[in-house]
Amino acid sequence: MIPLSVPNLAGNEWKYIKECLDTNWVSSVGAYVNKFEESLANYTGAKYAISTVNGTAALHISLMLSGVEANDYVIVPNITFIASLNSIKYCNANPILMDVKEDSWQMDLDLLEEFLTKSTIISGNKCLLKKNKKRIKAIMPVHVLGNITDVDRLLKIAKRFKLAVVEDSTESLGTFYKGKHSGTHGLFGCVSFNGNKILTTGGGGMILTNNKTLAKKAKHITTQAKSHPFEYLHDDIGYNYRLVNILSAMGVAQMEQLEGFLTTKEQIAANYTKELSLIPGIVFQKMNPDAKVNNWLFTIRCKDQKGLMKFLLANNIQVRPFWVPMNKLKMFKKDLYITKDKISEKVYKSCVSLPCSTNLKPEEQAFVISKIKEFYKK
Ligand SMILES: Cc1ncc(COP(=O)(O)O)c(C=O)c1O
Repeated sequence: MIPLSVPNLAGNEWKYIKECLDTNWVSSVGAYVNKFEESLANYTGAKYAISTVNGTAALHISLMLSGVEANDYVIVPNITFIASLNSIKYCNANPILMDVKEDSWQMDLDLLEEFLTKSTIISGNKCLLKKNKKRIKAIMPVHVLGNITDVDRLLKIAKRFKLAVVEDSTESLGTFYKGKHSGTHGLFGCVSFNGNKILTTGGGGMILTNNKTLAKKAKHITTQAKSHPFEYLHDDIGYNYRLVNILSAMGVAQMEQLEGFLTTKEQIAANYTKELSLIPGIVFQKMNPDAKVNNWLFTIRCKDQKGLMKFLLANNIQVRPFWVPMNKLKMFKKDLYITKDKISEKVYKSCVSLPCSTNLKPEEQAFVISKIKEFYKK
């Protein structure tokens, strides 16, 4: 099977992890945790980076520290991975599902602005939904597949409607908008190092912020809110969310290879684009012209999506459909879904993600391309 997006562990992973094992520094304290955080802060330009056990935990803490409380609303795109919405539910808040743009597959900002203008009122520094006077506290843009939303416009809307911005940058490590890294534009940004991401620690995440007070709180609350260096005194309900040293060591080794991974991803995307653009009906994700994107997971829109997936799988090529739109899942069926033309459904029904691991061999990619061409010749 040619895999979709698998880890590439060709650097110092073994060496650094062995060092942790040899010295017994395997748990949540150790030099590599700090080193990994520093390397993320340096690379992204965020003033602070706080490691977490995964991206979902990073989102959960970021929403909490943005002030999201029970019964608040958080606006989120209807096309995302479920973890974005779960993190909202962990705060006992509710999502407002915003439809996406047909070309970029990011949250539709025209629709967002129209909805906020028509359906909310500003009271003091709060944005309230007109119909029930409940607060909309935050907005979570998801930079889907490593593309990025129109950040300037989003920030302007968020400011006007007094919404905290928590960027779900779990898929966009290596993506820059107008020279500034994804996840550093809002109050918080959250990165994931899950096994299928551009770089991996097996599982892991990072909170990015430029706010010193919130960074301190994030570190405190992700480490059980212990308030005394010796005594077991705790001053809040904390979480055991800190990434362990052994996985951070892997992260440091992976970060050393990030530039190379990005170059390879770009080449893979360029090859697919060149070879597949002649096939009628195949459409590519429209990337933000103000961004340098990371090309994380190469995905096409196409005709007979189901047929193509079946054919490629039968040829030992791993493919993936897009996420089922959130409004279709039973937990979120009753939540507010803001849409005009149900674009999410259209995008979902036509997207296929193709193999694009950074260790994909040229002959493997050529085989995938040849099989797609064969399918559409039939
Ligand atoms: C859009 C999105 N949000 C959140 C997450 C959650 O990240 P993690 O799997 O590290 O918890 C992921 C990735 O898995 C994701 O793709």
